[in-house]
Amino acid sequence: MTNFTSIHDTQYPTALVQQVLELKSNGHHSSLGKGKTLGLIFFNPSLRTRLSTQKAAANLGMNVIVMNITGNAWNIEFKDGSVMNGSTQEHIKDAVQVISGYCDVMGVRTFAKLEDPQEDYQEKVLNNFIKHSSVPVVSLESATLHPLQSLTDLATIAETGKKVPKIVLSWAPHPKKLPQAVTNSFLQWISTTEAETTVAHPKGYELSEEFTKGVKICHDQETALTDADFVYTKNWSSYANYGQTPPVKKDWTITEQKMKLTNNGKFMHCLPIRRNVVATDTVIDNSLVYKQAKNREYAAQAVLQNILEEL
Ligand code: CP
Repeated sequence: MTNFTSIHDTQYPTALVQQVLELKSNGHHSSLGKGKTLGLIFFNPSLRTRLSTQKAAANLGMNVIVMNITGNAWNIEFKDGSVMNGSTQEHIKDAVQVISGYCDVMGVRTFAKLEDPQEDYQEKVLNNFIKHSSVPVVSLESATLHPLQSLTDLATIAETGKKVPKIVLSWAPHPKKLPQAVTNSFLQWISTTEAETTVAHPKGYELSEEFTKGVKICHDQETALTDADFVYTKNWSSYANYGQTPPVKKDWTITEQKMKLTNNGKFMHCLPIRRNVVATDTVIDNSLVYKQAKNREYAAQAVLQNILEEL
């Protein structure tokens, strides 16, 4: 593995999921990364991604350096050929080449701006890192995908032992407009399994067809939830009406009552979660969310291990 920015960077997603679970059950300390440095660059806040990736690197004996760009670094210019006499002080090509001089592997966390679909879906920030870096790049979530989260989610589902599960990926309310990254990525990864997947969302929240091709779509949440084994919940803003949040008449919060429609289904969410907005306290307190968060450590370690083996 060279870079890890989407499912397309691994030829064997099922084997990678198994590797995550083996690291969890068979002990996970190794000296593979001794003398190597992981640089983690954040353009937006993070709790799980930052800590789980730091822990994974420590499990492999790596050193870790972390930089929060916003508020701590120079304002970065992305436009090639720009005359930089405005508010930006450092060009991305200079910043990335300098950072990669300090690291053996680099992780980058970016977030969709939700203004221009072209800019987000062309992954301007992540692709500039890949272009200018001299070391492998791991996505710690990009504008449109969150592959470490999806690898974790598949491992968490596999860990339950449920064969050919019925999964509902349900939209839920949120007070802010959010990207489609977690949802897009989950659909990419789950499509490599035998799971029967339904996406439930109110009209106006259609995702890009690139990710929903062949997936059942349902606009009635309760119909979709009936007999589900897993209820993966996430808010996202509109793709067609990019970044907008059309009004929704019905209440899409996941409640205990709605979970009773499922096949003793397990609630999943990537976290952070707005309690009693996305799902009620009872639903979250009886869910897989902490298991998912813990599995982020082994997912990050499996990815770093694969990259280190090819350095
Ligand atoms: N799920 C996830 O990526 O969490 P953070 O934003 O806290 O890293």
